[in-house]
Amino acid sequence: MLSYRHGFHAGNHADVLKHLIFQFVLQYMGEKERPYIVVDTHAGAGAYKLEDEFAQKNKEFETGIGPLWNADRADMPKAVAEYLDVVAKFNKEDGFDDLVLYPGSPWFALNQLPMDGKGFFHELHPTDFDLLRQFIRPNRYRKAIKGDGFELSMGLFPPAQKRGVVIIDPPYEIKDDYDRVVQYVKDVTKRFKGAVILIWYPVVERYRIDKVEQGLKRTGVKNIALYEFNVAKDSHERGMTGSGMILVNQPWKLPSAMAEVLPYLVKTLPGDNNDFRAEQIVPE
Ligand SMILES: C[S@@+](CC[C@H](N)C(=O)[O-])C[C@H]1O[C@@H](n2cnc3c(N)ncnc32)[C@H](O)[C@@H]1O
Repeated sequence: MLSYRHGFHAGNHADVLKHLIFQFVLQYMGEKERPYIVVDTHAGAGAYKLEDEFAQKNKEFETGIGPLWNADRADMPKAVAEYLDVVAKFNKEDGFDDLVLYPGSPWFALNQLPMDGKGFFHELHPTDFDLLRQFIRPNRYRKAIKGDGFELSMGLFPPAQKRGVVIIDPPYEIKDDYDRVVQYVKDVTKRFKGAVILIWYPVVERYRIDKVEQGLKRTGVKNIALYEFNVAKDSHERGMTGSGMILVNQPWKLPSAMAEVLPYLVKTLPGDNNDFRAEQIVPE
């Protein structure tokens, strides 16, 4: 049941889309002086070595962050360059001038959170939880929480800080995850209306994404946007052909940034049939 290990996929095109948007949102939150919290419902291990046996198995980073790392900075949208700068900073802090390590969502959050901001990182897998705890070194501002992130995070809302980012990044190996993200958005927004919520999803079977979109529309939650990047046409036979991010209460600056980022990913990342979607699926 717990076979998913994010180490196999670290730095792939789905991580690029997810972390680039996450970084953009965190930066935007930091533009105001008021503190905020980050809730990561599915945090993973926190950091990944691209040389280890997991990442080397399929070398997914070679069709994700790899080509971006080597791309010409002069021709790059600002949001892509800023994301790469953060990955470079992560490597530098460990003494590497090159791309040796890839940070997970907890590090993007911790790197950007202000001193008085708080991070709550949930992980169910015992091995990844131990790695996560060692990685984030919990204190009163950053917590590693072992168990089901959907359930255990609910008590955090509404936060005293009244500002918060929630990132939901399940493996979707258990198909219930598709329904659970919809219910979770409904429950969080009931308690915490202004939450900025990010949901990652894989494009494996299109009808499941259609169902998530329909489910979200039915919740009555306003202001929902979707950004998707695909490397192949939809297919039931070839596994993940793309991935997307759904945002509730996205920063107003994100649509114009993504109007540059997505065409750039389409032309820069390898793929059989690259394309993208950028849609406001529920208006403000
Ligand atoms: C896609 S990975 C997370 C990657 C991470 N968010 C990142 O961007 O670096 C999904 C993680 O969720 C964990 N997981 C699966 N079901 C969970 C649940 N119900 N609650 C918390 N974690 C769960 C898996 O063990 C896995 O580490």
